[in-house]
Amino acid sequence: MDQYAKKWIKEAGAKLRESFATELNIETKTNPNDLVTNMDKETERFFVSKIKETFPGHRIFGEEGMGHDINDLKGTVWIIDPIDGTLNFIHQQRNFAISLAIYEDGVGKVGMVYDVVHDELYHAIKGEGAYLNHYPLSPLSKVGVEEAILSINASWIVTNKRINPAILAALVNDVRGTRSYGSAALELAFVAAGRIDGYITMRLSPWDFAAGSILVEEVGGKVSDLFGENLDYIKGGSLFAAKPGFHEFVLEEYILKR
Ligand code: IPD
Ligand code: CA
Ligand code: CA
Ligand code: CA
Repeated sequence: MDQYAKKWIKEAGAKLRESFATELNIETKTNPNDLVTNMDKETERFFVSKIKETFPGHRIFGEEGMGHDINDLKGTVWIIDPIDGTLNFIHQQRNFAISLAIYEDGVGKVGMVYDVVHDELYHAIKGEGAYLNHYPLSPLSKVGVEEAILSINASWIVTNKRINPAILAALVNDVRGTRSYGSAALELAFVAAGRIDGYITMRLSPWDFAAGSILVEEVGGKVSDLFGENLDYIKGGSLFAAKPGFHEFVLEEYILKR
């Protein structure tokens, strides 16, 4: 299964790179900043047709809705975000990824995040290690808050409905530095690769984190919602992924304490 996934994700990535030379067709979804392109749709359609043809018994949970109507993760379910970071895809032609995960009865077995522009495939099979292309990713080591690079969207420090903005402001003040890349899947892959130490976000859908959470956990990182609870792989929600130690510390000393 993972060999097919790898082949298809590379093929889809090549088509996305080729699309830079053509004009995009851009539409809005729920609001003027929620965009979708012909390439988001084309990429999801590509995966859906390959999966249906090769694994007719499997189900597909994708952002653009070309798979199945999913209300549970029974059996084998492919969770796909054809382009994670569509705004970056449109504005920058970089900092976006294809995210593909395979869950069996609710357990994440295969996680792949493909940074198309850099040709970097982050992939993990549960229990068999995580890799960046052919290089194994090292187990994550503990980091203190004062040495941590935290990925967080700056607008959440100013206004937030789910958590007192002062809590995030204190955390942002104490860490070594902050980043914001605009692709949840890539940010989770960066946590897994040790490029950043943590990632906090307020509202994601299952396809944004289904693959990245497998990567992070495979190298010993922690993934939960912002309050330390398990993620909801059907409804989505907030997310906090981080190196061991840092995750517990932030929950105890910042988020749950104040
Ligand atoms: C978005 C990206 C972004 C996150 C948004 C997502 P999309 O996914 O992951 O980083 O902040 O919440 O919706 O729509 O570009 O696939
Ligand atoms: Ca989207
Ligand atoms: Ca996404
Ligand atoms: Ca998307």
